[in-house]
Amino acid sequence: MQRDTACSRVAGADRVRPRRANLLEARLRALEPGDIDSLIRWVNDAAVTLYLSQAVAYPPSGSDGFRWLEELSRSHTDRVFAIETPERRLIGSVGLHAIRWVDRKAELAVMIGERDCWNRGFGSWAVREMLRRGFEEMSLRRIYLRVASDHGAAIRVYRKCGFQPEGVLRKDRYVGRGYADTLMMSVLKEEFAAGESGVRTV
Ligand SMILES: CC(C)(COP(=O)(O)OP(=O)(O)OC[C@H]1O[C@@H](n2cnc3c(N)ncnc32)[C@H](O)[C@@H]1OP(=O)(O)O)[C@@H](O)C(=O)NCCC(=O)NCCS
Repeated sequence: MQRDTACSRVAGADRVRPRRANLLEARLRALEPGDIDSLIRWVNDAAVTLYLSQAVAYPPSGSDGFRWLEELSRSHTDRVFAIETPERRLIGSVGLHAIRWVDRKAELAVMIGERDCWNRGFGSWAVREMLRRGFEEMSLRRIYLRVASDHGAAIRVYRKCGFQPEGVLRKDRYVGRGYADTLMMSVLKEEFAAGESGVRTV
């Protein structure tokens, strides 16, 4: 697999404050059969899946992967994309699930599976780009998500992208060695548009 030397160098040399990625050339693209090995590796990495939302059931093994991808390509209620660095290295996925076209709403899930690329801005970039597509191209009005209430990095990303907390599901998930609350968050089309243009509505 092609390695992103920039990501690798940062992970080794500057672990505490990773260098921000140049996100101008990052991209979302369609998932391909060649991505399945990476997806399987990520979902079998306990550090990656510790807080993973149940919004999307990723395939646990290679044999499930092709069926999963095929079902995804026919789904009217899921849109999942691969996340690539500017160097065209596959590092994660982001998607909208449980799409309700009449209600114009969907649930967002994101995973940066390559851990050496955490805290470099890719997660925030991918969520923002997914929101842009959801609101501008798919004409959704509300995008929501579920996140473990102690998942600091994810909550920080979602806040930065305009999500607001809208409720807590108490003792809703088993994380590590105990039960944790789930925070529900959402962002509306007009809030996202205002945030992108620098105008705050809240
Ligand atoms: C959560 C996740 C998507 C974040 O992606 P990322 O590429 O690291 O995100 P970014 O680099 O854009 O932003 C991370 C932010 O969280 C902050 N952060 C990191 N660890 C933190 C912590 N423990 N508490 C609070 N903030 C934290 C970073 O400083 C950064 O904020 P800043 O840009 O203001 O400095 C990624 O870690 C991931 O995919 N994890 C595994 C799967 C997962 O948990 N998905 C989310 C399920 S709800």
